[in-house]
Amino acid sequence: MSATALLHPRVTRAPYDLDRVRAEFPILANVHPHGKPLVYLDNAASCQMPQPVIDRLVRYQTHEHANIHRGVHYLSETATEAYEGARRSVQRFLNAREEREIVFTTGATEAINLVMHGYGRKFIGAGDEIIITYMEHHSNIVPWQMLCEEKGAVLKVAPIDDRGELVLDAFDALFTDRTRFVAVTHVSNALGTVTPLARLIETAHAHGVPILVDGAQAAPHLPVDVQALDCDFYCFSGHKLCGPTGSGALYGKAEMLEKMQPFKGGGDMILSVSFEKTTYNAIPHKFEAGTPPIAAMIGLGAALDYVSALGMERIAAHEHALLEYATSRLSGIEGIRIIGTAREKAAVLSFYVGDVHPHDVGTLLNEDGVAVRTGHHCAQPVMQRFGVPATARASFALYNTFEEVDALVNSVERVQRMFA
Ligand code: ALA
Repeated sequence: MSATALLHPRVTRAPYDLDRVRAEFPILANVHPHGKPLVYLDNAASCQMPQPVIDRLVRYQTHEHANIHRGVHYLSETATEAYEGARRSVQRFLNAREEREIVFTTGATEAINLVMHGYGRKFIGAGDEIIITYMEHHSNIVPWQMLCEEKGAVLKVAPIDDRGELVLDAFDALFTDRTRFVAVTHVSNALGTVTPLARLIETAHAHGVPILVDGAQAAPHLPVDVQALDCDFYCFSGHKLCGPTGSGALYGKAEMLEKMQPFKGGGDMILSVSFEKTTYNAIPHKFEAGTPPIAAMIGLGAALDYVSALGMERIAAHEHALLEYATSRLSGIEGIRIIGTAREKAAVLSFYVGDVHPHDVGTLLNEDGVAVRTGHHCAQPVMQRFGVPATARASFALYNTFEEVDALVNSVERVQRMFA
């Protein structure tokens, strides 16, 4: 299928130039598993990095590196400006009102833990209730369980139906006058379900409860506007978004971040320290103790500028077309069970091939150069809900092609023939 055929009806700008996008990711041409062209469909675990982001990291390390916020010398100022420039890139990407509403974290996991420690440990107590959903990644379950264990709070879980959609009536029914916090995913990493976020945020706020959104699987695939959403917290990981591992961000409304306690103590998060009393720095620095992964965050800024220049709407439209094509081709194969058939999905296709264990599926696909993730995807409750120990999961990114979907389908058919 030609790249120019990919214009989605909702997209009014120039067609998505897939060949050009693809050519900017060197790893796709450099790696040949088992002598085959690489078909990289494990983007939900980690996405590849384009040359402009690699170049930005090289420029930083060869021309700009020093510690930040700590020196008056040329390099320290240069590094500080690059680091704070990356914060402005995150602000633009999420459409946050203010730059100080962006806290750098090593990823979504650290961001959720930050909110648990900074907000949860301060404001949630015995008998209070926290609402999450059945389709959360472990990183949006375990921190809240830890908090409940420490404080004697109660974790309540909103169910999902057989398609993998949230049961909204049941979600609504979980609210009581003890509800103190809601934490939900924007897109399920195991099912691909896009949650009705605006509705969930509205419901939480109607009960006067703050809400955190785990955007790890959404920010790479959908345009996100935190002001329009009106969520209290939103977080994502850089390495799923063409950026480096160890990069990511937490958005928090300024008034929320202001009233939270620090997560980690150390340098840079203080205004003054004495043995009698320490005063904390202003947000966001209050939450960024110690020397951060400076290069990683600068790479993150470059990655967000890169995808923003391509246009998140256009990326979303391309990936949606890939997902629809892959879904229709795979569901046409006898014995394939797709896990997660929500009406609104993004970039993720989990499946089962007959009775073949997903690990065998993944191993055989790898022989054809096709990289998918197999396992429980750090979402064991989802697996339990669907009665499977694991799935094979293909996940798409901005550089994947329709020919790669064909390669996936051909390889799945080979697996089926082998086990027939
Ligand atoms: N959370 C990542 C995934 O879904 C690692 O694969």
